[in-house]
Amino acid sequence: MAYDEIEMAVRRSRDKRDVFYRLAKEQGWRARSAFKLLQIDEEFRIFSKVTHVVDLCAAPGSWSQVLERKIGRVNPPGKARIVAVDLQQMAPIPGVVQLQGDITKKKTADAIKKELGGQLAQLVVCDGAPDVTGLHDMDEYMQDQLILAALNISTELLAPGGAFVAKMFKARDIDFMYSQMKLFFRSVTCTKPRSSRSSSNEHFIVCLDYKPLEGYQGMAEDLKPGDELSALTKFVYSGDLSGFDQII
Ligand SMILES: C[S@@+](CC[C@H](N)C(=O)[O-])C[C@H]1O[C@@H](n2cnc3c(N)ncnc32)[C@H](O)[C@@H]1O
Repeated sequence: MAYDEIEMAVRRSRDKRDVFYRLAKEQGWRARSAFKLLQIDEEFRIFSKVTHVVDLCAAPGSWSQVLERKIGRVNPPGKARIVAVDLQQMAPIPGVVQLQGDITKKKTADAIKKELGGQLAQLVVCDGAPDVTGLHDMDEYMQDQLILAALNISTELLAPGGAFVAKMFKARDIDFMYSQMKLFFRSVTCTKPRSSRSSSNEHFIVCLDYKPLEGYQGMAEDLKPGDELSALTKFVYSGDLSGFDQII
């Protein structure tokens, strides 16, 4: 079904969730979230020319299915590499390497790099969500920390010029998140795909054209007690502007 037809179906429906839920079942996606990634690609063409891609926080696997269909299958056999990671185990998807791991850990970054076979990724996506506590401020904080972890692991995995897409919840400190991301990417945009429920403040941050930054101490496990943090690292971690002259 073409996406304009899907859109018409959405308009006809009083409940978006049911339309995309039904379509996901019909088309064999493991979750309706698949449409969010497909619609982000429609808008930003993030899959274009990608051969190596990492799906962070991937279970149950609908985004990995999309990556396999849109990147794995369009490249010549053996050329594409799709690596999916989650804390939880996922049912296998042919053409996708699956790792069980925590994206905040350096050893997970090392395992992904090994599976990428010595190449860096042109795209990293993260649909991660921490367990909800019900305490609004705490939940927002945990989501922000997960995005920061996804950014940090991406600084180990992304090729210059690469793209990063992550789920976020539009919150008070959105401006700070933009300024964190803008240090690393030339273009940073926030989008809400049609399939994302309007009742939720879920959005996706789409960061294009990665530029590696000298002096950024991304994966915190690399740091030892007493290590001096660079001005850049202090800013990204906590918004500390005391070394701002050195950052820009
Ligand atoms: C909304 S689900 C992802 C859905 C997936 N994109 C799909 O389309 O099927 C969020 C996932 O984030 C994972 N997650 C949360 N924190 C994580 C972490 N620190 N490391 C790895 N995965 C994590 C959870 O285990 C959960 O499976």
